[in-house]
Amino acid sequence: MASTEGLQAYEEDNLLLSLPKEKGWAARHLYLFQGFWCPSNFIEGVIKFQNHFLAKDSDVIVASFPKSGTTWLKALTFAIINRQRFSSSHNHPLLTSNSHELVPFLDFIFHADNIHDKLSHLSNMTEPRVFGTHIPFPSLSQSIKESNCKIVYICRNPFDTFVSFWIFANKINPHSLHQLQIEEALENYCKGTIGFGPTWEHMLGYWKESIATPNKVLFLKYEELKENANFYVKRVAEFLDCPFTEEEESNGVIESIINLCSFEKMKNLEINKAGTFDRNYGKKYLFRKGEVGDWVNYFSPAMIEKLSKTVEEKLGGSGLSFKTSP
Ligand code: A3P
Repeated sequence: MASTEGLQAYEEDNLLLSLPKEKGWAARHLYLFQGFWCPSNFIEGVIKFQNHFLAKDSDVIVASFPKSGTTWLKALTFAIINRQRFSSSHNHPLLTSNSHELVPFLDFIFHADNIHDKLSHLSNMTEPRVFGTHIPFPSLSQSIKESNCKIVYICRNPFDTFVSFWIFANKINPHSLHQLQIEEALENYCKGTIGFGPTWEHMLGYWKESIATPNKVLFLKYEELKENANFYVKRVAEFLDCPFTEEEESNGVIESIINLCSFEKMKNLEINKAGTFDRNYGKKYLFRKGEVGDWVNYFSPAMIEKLSKTVEEKLGGSGLSFKTSP
Protein backbone atom coordinates (compact mmCIF):
# COMPACT_ATOMS: atom_id res chain seq x y z
CA MET A 1 0.00 0.00 0.00
CA ALA A 2 1.31 3.48 -0.84
CA SER A 3 2.36 5.66 2.12
CA THR A 4 0.43 8.92 2.72
CA GLU A 5 3.47 10.92 1.57
CA GLY A 6 3.83 8.72 -1.53
CA LEU A 7 0.17 9.14 -2.39
CA GLN A 8 0.37 12.87 -1.86
CA ALA A 9 3.44 13.17 -4.10
CA TYR A 10 1.68 11.08 -6.75
CA GLU A 11 -1.42 13.29 -6.61
CA GLU A 12 0.73 16.43 -6.80
CA ASP A 13 2.60 15.08 -9.83
CA ASN A 14 -0.68 14.27 -11.53
CA LEU A 15 -2.06 17.70 -10.74
CA LEU A 16 1.06 19.35 -12.19
CA LEU A 17 0.84 17.25 -15.34
CA SER A 18 -2.72 18.44 -15.87
CA LEU A 19 -1.91 22.17 -15.57
CA PRO A 20 -0.87 24.53 -18.40
CA LYS A 21 2.86 25.28 -18.07
CA GLU A 22 5.08 28.19 -19.17
CA LYS A 23 8.70 29.20 -18.71
CA GLY A 24 9.21 30.93 -15.35
CA TRP A 25 11.39 33.82 -14.18
CA ALA A 26 13.50 32.73 -11.22
CA ALA A 27 11.61 29.42 -11.16
CA ARG A 28 12.06 27.03 -14.04
CA HIS A 29 8.36 26.78 -14.83
CA LEU A 30 5.09 28.41 -13.87
CA TYR A 31 1.82 26.50 -13.77
CA LEU A 32 -1.64 27.95 -14.31
CA PHE A 33 -3.40 26.98 -11.09
CA GLN A 34 -6.91 28.29 -10.27
CA GLY A 35 -6.45 31.02 -12.86
CA PHE A 36 -3.08 32.33 -11.67
CA TRP A 37 0.53 31.42 -12.50
CA CYS A 38 2.43 29.71 -9.77
CA PRO A 39 5.79 27.90 -9.37
CA SER A 40 5.24 24.19 -8.66
CA ASN A 41 6.57 24.36 -5.11
CA PHE A 42 3.94 26.98 -4.09
CA ILE A 43 0.94 24.96 -5.18
CA GLU A 44 1.10 22.50 -2.30
CA GLY A 45 1.22 25.36 0.25
CA VAL A 46 -1.72 27.13 -1.38
CA ILE A 47 -3.87 23.99 -1.39
CA LYS A 48 -3.07 23.24 2.25
CA PHE A 49 -3.83 26.85 3.20
CA GLN A 50 -7.19 26.69 1.42
CA ASN A 51 -8.08 23.41 3.10
CA HIS A 52 -6.86 24.10 6.62
CA PHE A 53 -6.57 27.79 7.48
CA LEU A 54 -9.31 28.98 9.82
CA ALA A 55 -9.58 32.75 9.92
CA LYS A 56 -10.60 34.53 13.13
CA ASP A 57 -12.77 37.64 13.01
CA SER A 58 -9.92 39.66 14.49
CA ASP A 59 -7.35 38.58 11.85
CA VAL A 60 -5.77 41.10 9.52
CA ILE A 61 -4.49 40.03 6.10
CA VAL A 62 -1.92 42.14 4.24
CA ALA A 63 -2.43 41.22 0.59
CA SER A 64 -0.36 42.30 -2.40
CA PHE A 65 1.05 41.47 -5.77
CA PRO A 66 4.80 40.74 -5.31
CA LYS A 67 7.10 43.79 -5.40
CA SER A 68 4.29 46.24 -4.70
CA GLY A 69 5.35 47.28 -1.19
CA THR A 70 4.47 44.16 0.81
CA THR A 71 7.46 44.43 3.18
CA TRP A 72 6.57 48.04 3.94
CA LEU A 73 2.83 47.52 4.43
CA LYS A 74 3.45 44.47 6.64
CA ALA A 75 5.70 46.61 8.85
CA LEU A 76 3.23 49.51 9.01
CA THR A 77 0.27 47.25 9.77
CA PHE A 78 2.17 45.36 12.46
CA ALA A 79 3.32 48.64 14.05
CA ILE A 80 -0.16 50.22 13.90
CA ILE A 81 -1.93 47.22 15.42
CA ASN A 82 0.65 46.58 18.12
CA ARG A 83 1.37 50.17 19.09
CA GLN A 84 0.17 49.69 22.65
CA ARG A 85 2.16 46.49 23.18
CA PHE A 86 5.38 47.96 21.77
CA SER A 87 5.27 51.65 22.41
CA SER A 88 8.99 52.24 22.72
CA SER A 89 10.80 52.72 19.43
CA HIS A 90 14.03 51.46 21.09
CA ASN A 91 13.09 47.85 21.56
CA HIS A 92 10.43 47.42 18.91
CA PRO A 93 10.31 43.94 17.30
CA LEU A 94 10.68 45.58 13.88
CA LEU A 95 14.23 46.54 14.92
CA THR A 96 15.20 42.94 15.50
CA SER A 97 13.01 41.04 13.02
CA ASN A 98 12.15 41.56 9.39
CA SER A 99 8.46 42.29 8.80
CA HIS A 100 8.10 39.00 6.90
CA GLU A 101 9.11 37.18 10.08
CA LEU A 102 6.56 39.06 12.17
CA VAL A 103 3.80 38.83 9.55
CA PRO A 104 4.10 35.37 7.95
CA PHE A 105 2.84 34.55 4.48
CA LEU A 106 -0.24 32.32 4.52
CA ASP A 107 0.88 31.08 1.10
CA PHE A 108 3.88 29.27 2.58
CA ILE A 109 2.86 28.77 6.20
CA PHE A 110 1.71 25.19 5.71
CA HIS A 111 4.34 24.28 3.17
CA ALA A 112 6.10 21.04 4.12
CA ASP A 113 4.98 21.40 7.72
CA ASN A 114 3.12 19.09 10.00
CA ILE A 115 -0.41 20.49 9.63
CA HIS A 116 -1.48 19.70 13.20
CA ASP A 117 1.55 21.38 14.77
CA LYS A 118 1.08 24.37 12.53
CA LEU A 119 -2.64 24.67 13.31
CA SER A 120 -2.05 24.56 17.03
CA HIS A 121 0.72 27.16 16.71
CA LEU A 122 -1.60 29.40 14.68
CA SER A 123 -4.47 29.10 17.10
CA ASN A 124 -2.17 30.12 19.97
CA MET A 125 -0.79 33.23 18.27
CA THR A 126 -1.39 36.56 20.03
CA GLU A 127 -4.46 38.31 18.62
CA PRO A 128 -5.03 40.18 16.46
CA ARG A 129 -3.00 37.92 14.19
CA VAL A 130 -1.50 39.58 11.12
CA PHE A 131 -0.71 37.53 8.02
CA GLY A 132 0.48 38.28 4.50
CA THR A 133 -0.56 36.79 1.19
CA HIS A 134 0.11 37.12 -2.54
CA ILE A 135 -2.80 34.82 -3.38
CA PRO A 136 -5.44 36.41 -5.65
CA PHE A 137 -8.76 37.23 -3.98
CA PRO A 138 -10.83 34.42 -5.59
CA SER A 139 -8.37 31.80 -4.25
CA LEU A 140 -8.36 32.98 -0.63
CA SER A 141 -9.76 30.43 1.80
CA GLN A 142 -13.53 30.51 2.36
CA SER A 143 -12.96 31.26 6.03
CA ILE A 144 -11.18 34.52 5.14
CA LYS A 145 -14.06 35.53 2.89
CA GLU A 146 -16.79 34.51 5.31
CA SER A 147 -15.32 35.72 8.61
CA ASN A 148 -15.15 39.37 9.67
CA CYS A 149 -11.38 39.51 9.26
CA LYS A 150 -10.04 42.48 7.31
CA ILE A 151 -7.82 42.69 4.24
CA VAL A 152 -5.46 45.56 3.47
CA TYR A 153 -4.26 45.37 -0.13
CA ILE A 154 -1.40 47.26 -1.72
CA CYS A 155 -0.59 47.59 -5.39
CA ARG A 156 1.86 49.66 -7.39
CA ASN A 157 2.14 51.09 -10.87
CA PRO A 158 2.93 48.25 -13.29
CA PHE A 159 6.09 49.95 -14.64
CA ASP A 160 7.88 50.07 -11.28
CA THR A 161 6.44 46.72 -10.19
CA PHE A 162 7.81 45.07 -13.31
CA VAL A 163 11.33 46.51 -12.89
CA SER A 164 11.38 45.66 -9.20
CA PHE A 165 10.25 42.09 -9.96
CA TRP A 166 12.72 41.57 -12.80
CA ILE A 167 15.69 42.79 -10.75
CA PHE A 168 14.61 40.80 -7.68
CA ALA A 169 14.15 37.58 -9.70
CA ASN A 170 17.64 37.93 -11.17
CA LYS A 171 19.24 38.73 -7.81
CA ILE A 172 17.74 35.86 -5.85
CA ASN A 173 18.84 33.44 -8.52
CA PRO A 174 22.05 34.90 -9.99
CA HIS A 175 23.35 31.65 -11.47
CA SER A 176 20.06 30.44 -12.85
CA LEU A 177 19.83 29.36 -16.45
CA HIS A 178 16.36 30.80 -16.34
CA GLN A 179 17.28 34.45 -16.06
CA LEU A 180 15.31 36.48 -18.56
CA GLN A 181 16.44 39.44 -20.62
CA ILE A 182 14.33 42.48 -19.78
CA GLU A 183 12.44 42.43 -23.12
CA GLU A 184 11.47 38.78 -22.73
CA ALA A 185 10.48 39.37 -19.12
CA LEU A 186 8.22 42.22 -20.22
CA GLU A 187 6.58 39.98 -22.83
CA ASN A 188 5.79 37.49 -20.07
CA TYR A 189 4.62 40.19 -17.68
CA CYS A 190 2.21 41.55 -20.30
CA LYS A 191 0.97 38.03 -21.07
CA GLY A 192 0.45 37.50 -17.36
CA THR A 193 3.01 34.69 -16.91
CA ILE A 194 4.64 35.87 -13.72
CA GLY A 195 4.28 34.40 -10.21
CA PHE A 196 0.73 35.19 -8.94
CA GLY A 197 -0.07 36.91 -12.26
CA PRO A 198 -1.67 38.11 -14.35
CA THR A 199 -1.00 41.32 -12.43
CA TRP A 200 -4.15 42.95 -13.83
CA GLU A 201 -6.44 40.25 -12.60
CA HIS A 202 -4.75 40.29 -9.21
CA MET A 203 -5.34 44.03 -8.84
CA LEU A 204 -8.84 43.96 -10.28
CA GLY A 205 -9.91 41.11 -7.99
CA TYR A 206 -9.08 43.12 -4.85
CA TRP A 207 -10.15 46.44 -6.44
CA LYS A 208 -13.65 45.18 -7.18
CA GLU A 209 -13.91 43.61 -3.75
CA SER A 210 -12.83 46.87 -2.07
CA ILE A 211 -15.66 48.66 -3.90
CA ALA A 212 -18.25 45.97 -3.15
CA THR A 213 -17.25 45.53 0.51
CA PRO A 214 -15.30 48.60 1.67
CA ASN A 215 -15.37 47.45 5.30
CA LYS A 216 -13.70 44.19 4.32
CA VAL A 217 -11.01 45.28 1.84
CA LEU A 218 -8.98 48.48 1.94
CA PHE A 219 -7.21 49.17 -1.36
CA LEU A 220 -3.94 51.14 -1.19
CA LYS A 221 -1.43 52.28 -3.79
CA TYR A 222 2.33 52.39 -3.16
CA GLU A 223 2.66 55.82 -4.80
CA GLU A 224 -0.07 57.37 -2.63
CA LEU A 225 1.33 55.81 0.53
CA LYS A 226 4.72 57.32 -0.31
CA GLU A 227 3.25 60.73 -1.03
CA ASN A 228 1.07 60.97 2.05
CA ALA A 229 2.06 58.33 4.58
CA ASN A 230 0.46 60.23 7.47
CA PHE A 231 -2.98 60.21 5.85
CA TYR A 232 -2.84 56.51 4.91
CA VAL A 233 -1.45 55.32 8.24
CA LYS A 234 -4.47 56.98 9.86
CA ARG A 235 -6.73 55.47 7.21
CA VAL A 236 -5.38 51.95 7.90
CA ALA A 237 -5.85 52.41 11.66
CA GLU A 238 -9.46 53.56 11.18
CA PHE A 239 -10.16 50.70 8.79
CA LEU A 240 -8.79 48.22 11.35
CA ASP A 241 -11.02 49.74 14.04
CA CYS A 242 -8.09 51.06 16.05
CA PRO A 243 -8.06 54.79 15.16
CA PHE A 244 -5.38 57.03 16.68
CA THR A 245 -6.57 59.08 19.62
CA GLU A 246 -6.01 62.85 19.68
CA GLU A 247 -3.43 62.28 22.39
CA GLU A 248 -1.54 59.78 20.24
CA GLU A 249 -1.63 62.19 17.33
CA SER A 250 -0.28 65.06 19.38
CA ASN A 251 2.39 62.82 20.91
CA GLY A 252 3.74 62.04 17.44
CA VAL A 253 2.81 58.33 17.46
CA ILE A 254 1.92 58.38 13.75
CA GLU A 255 5.24 59.97 12.78
CA SER A 256 7.21 57.52 14.89
CA ILE A 257 5.49 54.57 13.15
CA ILE A 258 6.24 56.10 9.74
CA ASN A 259 9.89 56.60 10.69
CA LEU A 260 10.26 53.12 12.14
CA CYS A 261 8.96 51.62 8.86
CA SER A 262 10.69 54.02 6.47
CA PHE A 263 12.78 52.64 3.62
CA GLU A 264 16.04 54.15 4.93
CA LYS A 265 15.45 52.90 8.48
CA MET A 266 14.54 49.37 7.43
CA LYS A 267 17.22 49.03 4.76
CA ASN A 268 19.96 50.08 7.19
CA LEU A 269 19.02 47.75 10.03
CA GLU A 270 21.66 45.07 10.62
CA ILE A 271 18.97 42.38 10.63
CA ASN A 272 17.94 43.35 7.11
CA LYS A 273 21.46 43.48 5.69
CA ALA A 274 22.17 39.77 6.03
CA GLY A 275 20.34 36.48 6.34
CA THR A 276 17.37 35.08 4.50
CA PHE A 277 13.60 34.98 4.80
CA ASP A 278 10.88 32.61 3.64
CA ARG A 279 12.26 30.44 0.84
CA ASN A 280 15.90 31.40 1.49
CA TYR A 281 15.74 34.72 -0.31
CA GLY A 282 18.34 37.26 0.84
CA LYS A 283 16.66 39.85 3.06
CA LYS A 284 18.87 42.60 1.62
CA TYR A 285 17.15 42.18 -1.77
CA LEU A 286 13.87 43.36 -0.27
CA PHE A 287 15.24 46.89 -0.11
CA ARG A 288 16.49 48.31 -3.38
CA LYS A 289 15.56 51.93 -4.18
CA GLY A 290 12.05 52.36 -2.86
CA GLU A 291 11.25 55.10 -5.38
CA VAL A 292 8.42 56.00 -7.71
CA GLY A 293 9.52 56.28 -11.35
CA ASP A 294 12.81 54.34 -11.34
CA TRP A 295 11.45 52.34 -14.31
CA VAL A 296 12.53 55.15 -16.69
CA ASN A 297 16.11 53.94 -16.23
CA TYR A 298 15.25 50.52 -17.71
CA PHE A 299 12.57 51.02 -20.37
CA SER A 300 13.23 51.55 -24.08
CA PRO A 301 10.62 53.50 -26.10
CA ALA A 302 9.33 50.17 -27.51
CA MET A 303 8.92 48.76 -24.00
CA ILE A 304 7.04 51.89 -22.87
CA GLU A 305 4.66 51.50 -25.79
CA LYS A 306 4.14 47.81 -25.11
CA LEU A 307 3.35 48.16 -21.41
CA SER A 308 1.26 51.33 -21.84
CA LYS A 309 -0.91 49.54 -24.41
CA THR A 310 -1.30 46.50 -22.20
CA VAL A 311 -2.22 48.58 -19.15
CA GLU A 312 -4.84 50.45 -21.19
CA GLU A 313 -6.22 47.20 -22.57
CA LYS A 314 -6.37 45.45 -19.21
CA LEU A 315 -7.24 48.23 -16.78
CA GLY A 316 -8.94 50.81 -19.01
CA GLY A 317 -12.48 51.51 -17.83
CA SER A 318 -11.89 49.89 -14.42
CA GLY A 319 -11.37 53.23 -12.66
CA LEU A 320 -7.93 52.02 -11.55
CA SER A 321 -5.04 54.28 -12.51
CA PHE A 322 -1.52 54.98 -11.24
CA LYS A 323 1.06 57.69 -10.86
CA THR A 324 4.21 56.59 -12.68
CA SER A 325 6.53 59.48 -11.80
CA PRO A 326 7.41 61.18 -8.51
P1 A3P B 1 12.21 48.72 -5.62
O1 A3P B 1 12.72 47.42 -6.17
O2 A3P B 1 11.55 49.56 -6.69
O3 A3P B 1 13.21 49.48 -4.86
P2 A3P B 1 7.83 43.94 -1.83
O4 A3P B 1 8.04 44.29 -0.42
O5 A3P B 1 6.39 43.76 -2.22
O6 A3P B 1 8.70 42.81 -2.25
O7 A3P B 1 8.25 45.20 -2.70
C1 A3P B 1 9.61 45.55 -2.83
C2 A3P B 1 9.71 47.00 -3.24
O8 A3P B 1 9.36 47.83 -2.14
C3 A3P B 1 11.14 47.35 -3.60
O9 A3P B 1 11.03 48.38 -4.59
C4 A3P B 1 11.68 47.87 -2.28
O10 A3P B 1 12.82 48.66 -2.40
C5 A3P B 1 10.47 48.65 -1.78
N1 A3P B 1 10.47 48.83 -0.32
C6 A3P B 1 10.87 47.96 0.64
N2 A3P B 1 10.71 48.49 1.86
C7 A3P B 1 10.19 49.72 1.68
C8 A3P B 1 9.82 50.78 2.58
N3 A3P B 1 9.96 50.65 3.90
N4 A3P B 1 9.32 51.91 2.05
C9 A3P B 1 9.17 52.06 0.71
N5 A3P B 1 9.52 51.10 -0.19
C10 A3P B 1 10.01 49.95 0.29
